[in-house]
Amino acid sequence: MALNLCPHPLQVLSVSSERSQMGILRKNSPLLISLQNLGGQSSPLLQSYSHGGSAFVSRAVKEKQTQTYGSAETEISETNPSSSKLVLVVGGTGGVGQLIVASLLKRNIKARLLLRDPAKAKSLFGLQDENSLKIWKGDTRNPDDLDSAIFEGVTHVICCTGTTAFPSRRWNGENTPERVDWEGVRNLVSALPETIKRIVLVSSVGVTKFDELPWSIMNLFGVLKYKKMGEDFIRNSSLPFTIIRAGRLTDGPYTSYDLNTLLQATAGKRRAVVIGKGDKLVGEVSRLVVAEACIQALDIEFTEGKIYEINSIEGEGPGNDQEKWRELFKAAEEN
Ligand SMILES: NC(=O)c1ccc[n+]([C@@H]2O[C@H](COP(=O)([O-])OP(=O)(O)OC[C@H]3O[C@@H](n4cnc5c(N)ncnc54)[C@H](OP(=O)(O)O)[C@@H]3O)[C@@H](O)[C@H]2O)c1
Repeated sequence: MALNLCPHPLQVLSVSSERSQMGILRKNSPLLISLQNLGGQSSPLLQSYSHGGSAFVSRAVKEKQTQTYGSAETEISETNPSSSKLVLVVGGTGGVGQLIVASLLKRNIKARLLLRDPAKAKSLFGLQDENSLKIWKGDTRNPDDLDSAIFEGVTHVICCTGTTAFPSRRWNGENTPERVDWEGVRNLVSALPETIKRIVLVSSVGVTKFDELPWSIMNLFGVLKYKKMGEDFIRNSSLPFTIIRAGRLTDGPYTSYDLNTLLQATAGKRRAVVIGKGDKLVGEVSRLVVAEACIQALDIEFTEGKIYEINSIEGEGPGNDQEKWRELFKAAEEN
């Protein structure tokens, strides 16, 4: 594939020449590649969880603020022109991951992405200044892909990788829950420098009950068990972590949109946020709400070392108001 060293490229870096689909990059020899020269986006199958059961609502905070992320985040970008954070998003082309990346860009927070297929970033995020968004090619299953150069300057990490719970085309090449949710998370955590200020992991409700009905059905191929193993690895690491266990995901996954569309995405009527602890929450959550929870947790100090479950229900929500998110996380602690 031809290279185009253009003035405003997204920077695509590979650290694993033997695995590079583009076959052009040497380890530790970053090259700038215009995303205009990368191939088109494939259409990942939708991942569908079916947690079942009735909703157990521990607490809902319903606010009057309208949660249209496009307009709300414009304010953020005006009031927060330059963040000192550099956030690595792993799984940034997924349903939740795209929303996280779009939201970081809108907030003027610099981001790095670790992707198996950098071409997907082109149609999703367009051409961005390389300082704002830099793309690394890598597969979390391969420790060799997780070169220390990826983490240089990175202050925070959000990991929202995943695959389908049941066999599908997305398992091709052994991209199974065991390999992604356990080995991939383990590899990532093992590769991160101790200077990381926070890693947020998106996990799932039900992980502590994977051998009980109805969770054992979801866990037929081990997804909940392996997610729990990934969680435990992070908990036992010395890294400051927050784990966000999502209910069944709704809205999106917005896999065929561009940045503008992503920024206009709304959580529909399901904007009120319910945060629980102790793996008691059962229900659904908007991907937008999960994305926002991950970004908020980076800055709310008392969420460090904690595990939360999250749902969203009909009603007005906290939008991106940090004080409201603090209240929500704090209320979960107290219940
Ligand atoms: N669906 C639900 O109802 C539900 C419920 C609870 C929790 N969750 C969890 O919530 C998280 C986010 O869900 P989602 O729907 O946003 O996920 P998703 O759309 O399936 O996205 C998963 C992301 O992980 C990436 N990925 C997969 N295997 C990888 C690998 N080996 N190396 C690097 N990246 C890899 C994918 O990139 P590629 O394009 O390269 O595959 C994609 O960007 C996941 O952990 C999911 O399991 C889901």
